[in-house]
Amino acid sequence: MAHEIKDDIYWVGVNDRRNDLFESYWPIPNGMSYNSYLIKDEKSALIDGVKGGFTEDFLRKVQPHGAVEDLDYVIVNHMEPDHTGVFPELRRLNSGLTFVGTEKASELLENFYGITQGVEVVETNDTLDLGSHTLEFVETPFVHWPETMMTYLREEEVLFSGDGFGTYGTLDGGLFDDQLGAEKYFDEAVRYLSNIVGAYSATLQGALAKLKRLNIEIIAPTHGPIWRDSPDKIVELYDKYSSGGALPGVTIVHGSMYGFTKKVTERVAQGARSTGLQDLKVLDASRTHPSYLLSAAWKRRGLIVGSPTYESRAFPPISNFLEITEKKKLKDRIAGIFGSYGWGGGSAREIEETAETLDWDLVSSPVEFNGQPSEDQLKNGFELGRQVAEAIKN
Ligand SMILES: Cc1cc2nc3c(=O)[nH]c(=O)nc-3n(C[C@H](O)[C@H](O)[C@H](O)COP(=O)(O)O)c2cc1C
Ligand SMILES: [Fe+2]
Ligand SMILES: [Fe+2]
Repeated sequence: MAHEIKDDIYWVGVNDRRNDLFESYWPIPNGMSYNSYLIKDEKSALIDGVKGGFTEDFLRKVQPHGAVEDLDYVIVNHMEPDHTGVFPELRRLNSGLTFVGTEKASELLENFYGITQGVEVVETNDTLDLGSHTLEFVETPFVHWPETMMTYLREEEVLFSGDGFGTYGTLDGGLFDDQLGAEKYFDEAVRYLSNIVGAYSATLQGALAKLKRLNIEIIAPTHGPIWRDSPDKIVELYDKYSSGGALPGVTIVHGSMYGFTKKVTERVAQGARSTGLQDLKVLDASRTHPSYLLSAAWKRRGLIVGSPTYESRAFPPISNFLEITEKKKLKDRIAGIFGSYGWGGGSAREIEETAETLDWDLVSSPVEFNGQPSEDQLKNGFELGRQVAEAIKN
């Protein structure tokens, strides 16, 4: 496959088709790409690296474009090891390399890899002249870590955006959105956003504002396709899902050990549908990885959570879901709660605590029932679903 993005700019990344989990947590059934880029000029620069364990594959990609020993710069947009694992090997092969990154990145370079020599610290608006290419740096802290920046290639109007505008999924035999099918990546882009960079929605919005002054022809992120045909579409997607612009749909996340809570789930779903709601997703927290629960909830404005009581708190898979929504700051949902118990109860209380923390707007007090739900309690479940679905229409 042709690896050229523009004259003298090459993709030298790798496809990860062997790990099941990204960050040892998030499922990647479609794999993942770690994109790295090489600019050849009077001075040559590598933009980001790849994960350790892919060094051989990576060096094979670089080799046709010149020896690592002749590289001048490594631009460090982001220090997470999925992009920096190869740095020690690069430094071993080329002791004259200069690593270019933010102040914070220089601290991480030392802490992660003991790299202290040949480090150049840059700030927003600083530039690096490679000959006929000028790199301009834009600090974008917390997209995805505090040290993060993006790099803009002025002459060609290419934005090397790091994790921003990235997505899960390998690059199968092509590099660009128009080759690979942009639409195919959108669902996974939302899952990636919610899982990885969504927690920093406010800073993502800040980064988007900073980028407005740049003319961007191509977005080249560290994960997923290079956006040359429709960079505006991935920017729109990131803008929408980092600004609370979720869809008018409802996600029901529930758990149930023996089926009592599940009975109410069915009624809640029917209640939501009774309003004419089209976009409804029911997920069982015991059988669905939190990555997908979070992504489904991230996508839709309405969220209803149901859980039996388990040792005076929520059922563990539901507790786990609630914890991840707090860690990833899934704010501002229109929400409902239902919960079952055998004696003292406690599941609904735990969901309420999360709702409070994340400013979820509850349409009513929780629908609670002892063991087998009565006909009245089933009706209350239906009503809960109906109310949440009604509320998101307005
Ligand atoms: C392992 C386990 C722990 C439980 N702990 C509590 C508890 O601490 N307090 C309580 O009120 N009910 C407790 N229950 C009872 C369940 O919450 C109750 O039977 C509920 O209706 C089960 O709903 P489900 O069939 O949807 O799982 C527990 C049940 C199990 C199996
Ligand atoms: Fe990252
Ligand atoms: Fe990354």
